Amino acid sequence: MAQKQIYLDHAATTPVAPAVFRKMQPYFNQKYGNPSSIHGLGQTAAQAIEKARQQIAVFLNCLSEEIHFTAGATESDNWIIWGLVEKLRFQESINPHIITSAIEHKAILEPCQVLLKKGLIRLTILPVNSNGLVSLEDLKKAIKKDTRLVSIMYANSEIGTIQPISQIGQLIKKLNPKRKHPIIFHSDAVQAANYLDCSVDKLGLDSLSLSGHKVYGPKGVGLLYVKKGVKLSPLIRGGGQEKGVRSGTENVPGIIGLAEAVSRINQNNKELKKLRDKLITGVLRDINQVELNGSFKDRLPNNANFSFKGAEGESIVLSLSAKGVFTSTGSACASHSLSPSHVMLALGLSHEQAHASVRFTLGQQTTSQDIDYLLKILPGIIARLRKISGR
Ligand SMILES: Cc1ncc(COP(=O)(O)O)c(C=O)c1O
Repeated sequence: MAQKQIYLDHAATTPVAPAVFRKMQPYFNQKYGNPSSIHGLGQTAAQAIEKARQQIAVFLNCLSEEIHFTAGATESDNWIIWGLVEKLRFQESINPHIITSAIEHKAILEPCQVLLKKGLIRLTILPVNSNGLVSLEDLKKAIKKDTRLVSIMYANSEIGTIQPISQIGQLIKKLNPKRKHPIIFHSDAVQAANYLDCSVDKLGLDSLSLSGHKVYGPKGVGLLYVKKGVKLSPLIRGGGQEKGVRSGTENVPGIIGLAEAVSRINQNNKELKKLRDKLITGVLRDINQVELNGSFKDRLPNNANFSFKGAEGESIVLSLSAKGVFTSTGSACASHSLSPSHVMLALGLSHEQAHASVRFTLGQQTTSQDIDYLLKILPGIIARLRKISGR
């Protein structure tokens, strides 16, 4: 009999939903026109893209023209940073101040660090508390006259901590009318989109990033929402697609898939939360010297992240994989790196604790039996690894 496969790595990626796949299929080999072509086949594709934009606008509660398709959230995150800085340098010849947090995805942190090194921005990286939450007080103190962008992620990919986005939005909304130049508020909502209200108006957001493959859609497609009136320089230049702000022939099947996936998001999180809590309670009950990383209260309904003292995260992941259970250490994008996760270190964990962390992220297919199986095999794996490491 084939070995059981239990996928608990939905923060890394999700399977494409069958209905999404079906919707995408004709755009590969039947409705394959280039949306820039003026003939019928091209216009069919162009119209499908506009319909997709409208579908997503319903989810984000914004105007469809405020949505720009990209090749994924890495591009969207890079774009908001580079695009705004370049625009401000061009229009006002200034090097703006940017505020972000220590636990952002590298797609935000890396561009900020490069711009800082080049002397093109001033940067404040807000710390987080031991639960992974930024403080509104810290943010208030960090805001300067020349602060032009605040980028705080909605929910963290590793520990699932949910930030107080609407409170930050309210604060910025209150400050902006008194300022010479408004602060643009951006959030990376990649991990939040499946579970939390993404109405940009309610959240007070001027910009937001989403990714297709985290919401049961395809890989290699995402979007950047940019509120009307906010001006960004293009990151990718060429043929002038997306009204000149993002060149490159549109990934039509991807865009259709992204829109279908987004419009199928069902934020009824009750069952998922129950399963997550069963996992958390079971692990804390059955294994000693374990810490739950991140907040218990302000946490995505599908995330559980633990540090198992004396056992290495990577060895745990490989041992679980050998038994058909797929999980991760840190974020998928950072797991090639040998250095400990910047998120874990920002929580105040030691290098040893950070290396001992494993993330379990549940999804639509996860069952109670899956959690039972995991709880059955995990204590033995941890005991064996602790014995090997002599701790
Ligand atoms: C919070 C967050 N932002 C951005 C990304 C990058 O998204 P993409 O894979 O679409 O480039 C990820 C992917 O892991 C993520 O979790």
